[in-house]
Amino acid sequence: MGDFANSGFRYPSTRYTGSKRRFLEWIKENSDTIKFDTVLDLFGGTASVSLLFKRYGKQVSYNDFLASNQIVAKAIVENDGITISDKDLASVFSKTQKRYPNFIQNTYKNVFFLDEENAWLDQAITNINKIDNEYKRAILMASLFQACLAKRPFNLFHRANLYIRTNDVKRTFCNKTTWERSFEELVSRYVKEYNNAVFSNKRNNRVIGGYNAAKSPNGVDLVYMDPPYFSEHMTQGTNYLAYYHFLEGLADYKNWKNRLGKDTGKVKRMEDSEEVYSFTRKDRVLETFEKLIKRFQHTQLIISYQSNGIPSKEQIIEMLHNGGKKVKVYEKPHKYALSRRQTNELLFVAT
Ligand SMILES: C[S@@+](CC[C@H](N)C(=O)[O-])C[C@H]1O[C@@H](n2cnc3c(N)ncnc32)[C@H](O)[C@@H]1O
Repeated sequence: MGDFANSGFRYPSTRYTGSKRRFLEWIKENSDTIKFDTVLDLFGGTASVSLLFKRYGKQVSYNDFLASNQIVAKAIVENDGITISDKDLASVFSKTQKRYPNFIQNTYKNVFFLDEENAWLDQAITNINKIDNEYKRAILMASLFQACLAKRPFNLFHRANLYIRTNDVKRTFCNKTTWERSFEELVSRYVKEYNNAVFSNKRNNRVIGGYNAAKSPNGVDLVYMDPPYFSEHMTQGTNYLAYYHFLEGLADYKNWKNRLGKDTGKVKRMEDSEEVYSFTRKDRVLETFEKLIKRFQHTQLIISYQSNGIPSKEQIIEMLHNGGKKVKVYEKPHKYALSRRQTNELLFVAT
């Protein structure tokens, strides 16, 4: 797939649970052991792996159930050449209408961001939604999402913990310098990163998101799966909607109000769906994996997962063998930012 290490291409930075950005070189080396031309990235997240495959000339289909992630993939996987100019950026930052909606200011007061930042967000997202070109909108929104994550303690929206930023306490895990940078500065920084990642590989790369993963279309040479992680030490698997609901709201700003769940406390998040439960509930996760592997049993598969998970490495190998596949497993020591336990990153290559 070409010379990876010396290419100088910079992947946009990610602050996302389970992002494979740090493992791209390793994934590339091991996927080089099989032949494929078209690939479906089934749990695409930040689109880092889709972008890897796009760089190496593959035709990429990207899927993820979160609309905010699909927007990031529109910006860098589907988009072949549209970038953001200084003029575009200025139009997002300026007041171009007399009155702006105040949904974020009213709904999330003292929850995730300061009052003036909430007002800025209401204005910026309204301005972005007025832009006609969908790829320009996608780059601007993707940059806005990155800025929101950078300004959040732990880069998440699962707790109403603005106080961690505002209380005058000594912190042992401090990211305060980034939290206090303005939205304008951060959005401008991420627009540059995304602009630099836009290119054409002369293939028809598409975002097919919106489907539940298990129902996504078949008919590609390779399916790459990087599903949510369920640690054997936890009672629940990773709930991406609970972690990133605020970005989902920005992605669907006009309907946000109608999508708020009942009884979700101060964080006011969207209601969990069946798609979420298939990976977060202990009584469902094994069945979900079995169904997925069966669904794609006639296709080459590469699966990313971690050791100490449910299912275990041995269970995944058995499921793949039951589908008639030959399996190679690669391992790399790995520590996730939020965890103190040592786990290994696993890569199953099944043909
Ligand atoms: C481990 S992350 C993928 C990370 C990605 N490979 C990257 O490098 O950023 C798992 C992804 O699965 C998505 N997801 C969770 N449940 C899903 C479902 N039922 N269908 C489709 N996508 C789902 C989440 O939104 C999340 O982005």
